[in-house]
Amino acid sequence: MEKLVVKGPTPLKGEVIINGAKNAAVAILPATLLIDGCCTIENLPNISDIKISCEILEHLGAKITWNNKNSITIDSTNINSTKAPIDLTSRFRASYYILGAMLGRMGEIEVGMPGGCKLGARPIDQHIKGFELLGANVTVEKGTIYAKAKKLKGSPIYMDIVSVGATINVMLASVLANGTTIIDNAAKEPHIVDVANFLNTMGADIRGAGTDVIKINGVEKLHGNATYSVVPDQIEAGTFMLAAVATRGDITLKNCITKHLESITAKILEIGGNVQDNGDSIRVWCNKRPGKANIKTLPYPGFPTDLQPQMGVVLSLANGTSIITESIWDSRFQYTDELNKMGAHITAQGKNAFFEGVKRLSGAPVYSTDLRAGAALVVAGIAAEGTTEIYNLGYIDRGYEKIEEKFKKLGANIERVSE
Ligand code: UD1
Repeated sequence: MEKLVVKGPTPLKGEVIINGAKNAAVAILPATLLIDGCCTIENLPNISDIKISCEILEHLGAKITWNNKNSITIDSTNINSTKAPIDLTSRFRASYYILGAMLGRMGEIEVGMPGGCKLGARPIDQHIKGFELLGANVTVEKGTIYAKAKKLKGSPIYMDIVSVGATINVMLASVLANGTTIIDNAAKEPHIVDVANFLNTMGADIRGAGTDVIKINGVEKLHGNATYSVVPDQIEAGTFMLAAVATRGDITLKNCITKHLESITAKILEIGGNVQDNGDSIRVWCNKRPGKANIKTLPYPGFPTDLQPQMGVVLSLANGTSIITESIWDSRFQYTDELNKMGAHITAQGKNAFFEGVKRLSGAPVYSTDLRAGAALVVAGIAAEGTTEIYNLGYIDRGYEKIEEKFKKLGANIERVSE
């Protein structure tokens, strides 16, 4: 078993390069199944979710060549299986994108229910509703989803809930459908725009991604022979911005899109931190105890739920009492028990958590309860006095490439230790 051992407190200082976005990459890889040929994807984060995605694609018949640790070439010419292995799909949430992509490419797919972080109920009814409106027959039996269609036909689809996954999945399924699909009440996250940009580069006709109405005119085929670079990761960038504030440091983030970071920037300024937008880089620093703030997580462009635990670390150290309202997931305050072991004063009740700020956190053994909670605990450990041991690293490695190396370059005293 591995753990991270962090000795703090350390004000983080220096430059960090942000990787490509996990949540875009885990959708773009299945999207390559729609191409009758080869394409190269660059700026891929080198994380476990990507490695598992590649294994699933290979199982379906794709040929993958690693050009370097952040770039692959995928040849989807000979897709020859319509069964995705359940032991792989059950290991992460985004395996549900195999459904949309394979319905579009093969008109048929059998896939295990997706796994992923336990953030509360994670239904996929909106995905299924979308596929059915496109003409697919979808059944769920014994933990397996079976989807089949003769030829998908474009349709208007109103999403009852703003869902990132359902928006992308319906986009994937409708790219090669007959006619026009209109997704109403679509999600607007940067990775949705990125998946649409990728598909359009390959010959799709998708308009309006990034707004709440997306129009997809079906095309006959997608051509390959193109190279696409994944958008920088909004959530990884936000994690480092909040780490700068929590540790009262000074970090410049390179390879980020500052427009995607506006909701985080606004909150950092509100609590007394400093942000300098340099276009393609952003500097964040803080030289005093942050002030209190209330946060409500919302779909983009609201404050992202995936940065809620990292913001929780900052507010646990703030001067005054803050409230975080989690409006996306039912069970995203599990990390507060771990922070309380480090001396935080947090009370979580249903959708709200009350953060009575303390002057200092103190090191303790703590357990990642999900991917972003794990990253938050690393930030807490760097800000805390003494030694913090962080367990359950499998969660963190799903979404952050070499997290300890990046923090070490910023001055943190952090080691990965095998027990
Ligand atoms: C994606 C992200 C995840 C992030 C979340 C919200 C990926 C791989 N994961 O997850 O990191 O926390 O967006 O920004 O991109 N819902 C339904 N029915 C559905 C689908 C969703 O009720 O069919 C509900 C969910 O329970 C949740 C809300 O809609 O309350 C948003 O979920 P969704 O945007 O779909 O999240 P994911 O795509 O799973």
